[in-house]
Amino acid sequence: MENRSQWGGSRLGFLMAAIGSAVGLGNIWRFPATAFENGGGAFFVPYLFALLTAGIPLLIMEYTIGHKYRSSSPRSFSKISKGMEWIGWWQVLISFVISTYYPVIIAWAIMYAYFSFGTQWGGDDPTSFFVGDFLNLADPGTFGFIVPAVMIPLIVVWVLVLFFLGRGVKKGIELANKIFIPTLFIVFLIIVIRAVTLPGAFEGLNAFFEPDWSRITEGKVWVAAYGQIFFSLSIAFAIMITYSSYLPKKSDITNNAFITGFANSSFELLAGIGVFAVLGFMAVQSSTPVEEVVKGGVGLAFMVFPEIISQMPASGFFGFLFFASLFLAGLSSMISISETYIAGLQEKFSISRGKAVTFGGGLAFIVSLFFANQGGLNLLDTVDYFINNYGVALAGLFEVVAIAWFARSLKDLQQHADSVSDIKLGIWWRICLGIITPAILGYMMLQNLKTDLS
Ligand code: PFF
Ligand code: NA
Repeated sequence: MENRSQWGGSRLGFLMAAIGSAVGLGNIWRFPATAFENGGGAFFVPYLFALLTAGIPLLIMEYTIGHKYRSSSPRSFSKISKGMEWIGWWQVLISFVISTYYPVIIAWAIMYAYFSFGTQWGGDDPTSFFVGDFLNLADPGTFGFIVPAVMIPLIVVWVLVLFFLGRGVKKGIELANKIFIPTLFIVFLIIVIRAVTLPGAFEGLNAFFEPDWSRITEGKVWVAAYGQIFFSLSIAFAIMITYSSYLPKKSDITNNAFITGFANSSFELLAGIGVFAVLGFMAVQSSTPVEEVVKGGVGLAFMVFPEIISQMPASGFFGFLFFASLFLAGLSSMISISETYIAGLQEKFSISRGKAVTFGGGLAFIVSLFFANQGGLNLLDTVDYFINNYGVALAGLFEVVAIAWFARSLKDLQQHADSVSDIKLGIWWRICLGIITPAILGYMMLQNLKTDLS
């Protein structure tokens, strides 16, 4: 396509969008718990190793593919080799599935942000998320008719997502991220500053950073580090290929990949500090060891945090900021996942962006309704588990093996990246992608299978 949409003139638009996709719930609720469970301070060694040997090299590869072939993921793969189009569709399918439950979590964040005004999220009763009036909120008193109340914010999320996607790359996606990401950063910084000045913060941080060096020889810890990096950088979801296909011809690919990688990790570290400072506060308040209050995922955000925040001064205010940051981080990631199939559909069927948004987004919207109730949470957990442990690992494995071993295009891609980038890629880049990454992903798959089958 000659007149392919592009990001605005400066590199900022693309970077904000890429960072917006990367920075998400994975940074806020996945990283802190994963690091803690895998050696605390010692986890930073495998984590940095994974960032440098797989995360950034893969990001460079995906950026180069998008930039070179200027197409969505399926079409980019088919341009590399006809038989590889399915790899792109596999990635798009994973993103589509995620985009059917991710908005439900964002909708919860909206409701909790709203509840913050009256600290009505169950206060010190963490069970309210499940059995109180929340997940099965079908209370006709609340809205006057019998629907799970989360439907309303869910529709708000979809209206926002489809609105920005419908407006296109520069006026929609770029604009949204240029607003959301700086706001997210400021809001989060306020929370972290408040968190580290709470009594008990020090104990929390101590528990977080205390290195358990004995763990570093465990394969499981390394798998966790690579898993976190893949998920956190939105790699193998077709996102980064799609986003980089909108880069202007003159763009420094390698530099952009390093900036995205380090920005995402910095945000992860910041979140780890914030979360553990708050957990330390809770531990001290209830005189329990920090280890016993650590949690990640939905439980951390919607049960543990509300409980802790309600014990803090100005709890409504900080509760609002916290859920607002979940909302901002989630929405920018949600936009990126959905853009993968918008772009894919547009190219495959030669339809307009508007039509692709209507059909693709409409279908995802309808499916998302099934997740928006109490039964939905279990379903969401299961789907999320399989997507993360098999879907993405497989997509990553297919991708690197296809590029490095079947198409043998690493040299080609390296040349392309070098032709536009200041930093030149060496043989290390091809070793990381041709050998290290496939070996790790293969090992990861086997480990996951072993755990699930036993
Ligand atoms: N990279 C995001 C995070 O760390 O939270 C998560 C994510 C976003 C995963 C978008 C997948 C995705 F398609
Ligand atoms: Na991330």
